[in-house]
Amino acid sequence: MKPRTRVNHPPQTPLPAGNRALVAPIYQSVKFELDDLQQTERVWSGRADGYHYSREANPTVADLELLLAELQGRDACVAVGTGLAAVAVTLIALVSQGDHVLGFVETYPPTRRLLARTLARFGVGHTLLSIEDRAGIERALAARPVQLVWFESPTNPVLKVADIGHLTASARRHGALTVLDNTLAGLEAHAAFQVDLFVHSLTKYASGHGDVMGGAVIGSSELVQKVRTQALALGQTLDPHAAFLVQRGLRTYHLRRAAQCDSAARIAAFLAADRRVVRVRYPGLAQDPGHALARTQMPDFGSIISVDLAGAAEQSRIFADSLELFAIAASLGSTESLIVPPQLQQPRGLTLEQGGWSCITPTTARLSIGIEDPDDLQADLSAALDAAFR
Ligand SMILES: Cc1ncc(COP(=O)(O)O)c(C=O)c1O
Repeated sequence: MKPRTRVNHPPQTPLPAGNRALVAPIYQSVKFELDDLQQTERVWSGRADGYHYSREANPTVADLELLLAELQGRDACVAVGTGLAAVAVTLIALVSQGDHVLGFVETYPPTRRLLARTLARFGVGHTLLSIEDRAGIERALAARPVQLVWFESPTNPVLKVADIGHLTASARRHGALTVLDNTLAGLEAHAAFQVDLFVHSLTKYASGHGDVMGGAVIGSSELVQKVRTQALALGQTLDPHAAFLVQRGLRTYHLRRAAQCDSAARIAAFLAADRRVVRVRYPGLAQDPGHALARTQMPDFGSIISVDLAGAAEQSRIFADSLELFAIAASLGSTESLIVPPQLQQPRGLTLEQGGWSCITPTTARLSIGIEDPDDLQADLSAALDAAFR
């Protein structure tokens, strides 16, 4: 074989029997071959297990899917390229023309946009209520056939806690499926509830280092297969290298999350005690409206805090600009602390009344607490408060 041929057919060293890498290899290969045409035909047609094309399935991605399903306490998972892709393929898999979705003003805005702009074009209707409107939820489910209830808990950015038992029971009574975007709550949260599918942005706590994007949909094998079929039809897959990075992040998930939650509890209490702060929403605070529910539902209280400063938006602007350790940046759940100031998160695509239900005010900022030393974070917040109210 000439060198030019050899470099394209390089030697591969199989590991001796009983010998394996402690960290699984990344199957960074688009194609997989089989021993002969007969076996290839069987695998390509789905009559035999095996891999042939990474858009359809890849062992590195499959490893991640197994782990995520186990963490969430369900049978199956499909991983895709971003959290929003997970949202989109789930919606497309579960609803058809003429169907109706019950969503909430507190729902992640791009998810609301998918309902309002994309699915509406295909004849799927939706209603938006406040996640706190128990009577309204009952009325909406009784008033017309609803196929899907889509919700989050805690919500982003005001950290309202949904009554998951009530929502899932009402939905079941009326024959609707439920999807819970569990991104803020964490990978194991809410498993005891009769939620049909969980969605996660892996970009956040799962990978944890802000260097990779991914999304996952987790539930029964039957429903996940439905979602996987749509994901494949739309070409939505997770790259194996991204899957590897998420798996690496997951090794420290519990340690990171515990440290983040501890720091967040301390910082929320510190902010709530400051006279220059008019509202702190954090489910771990005893005085938080969602605290009692969160205690019964959540394994921890998370690391996201919503904070409204006294004064006007100008104070919030100076506060955000004065922070040294909190970057003004999107996303959440990573190792570093972040702030989204009010100027970057005013509700859009909602009526005035719906905007009121969201409880996002002109001074609502969102903090995502990282794994830095909480002493430093608290000192940074304190100095920024001094600067804002000098
Ligand atoms: C609750 C929630 N769901 C979904 C997403 C989308 O995830 P991604 O940014 O990975 O597409 C986000 C991102 O912020 C989110 O906060």
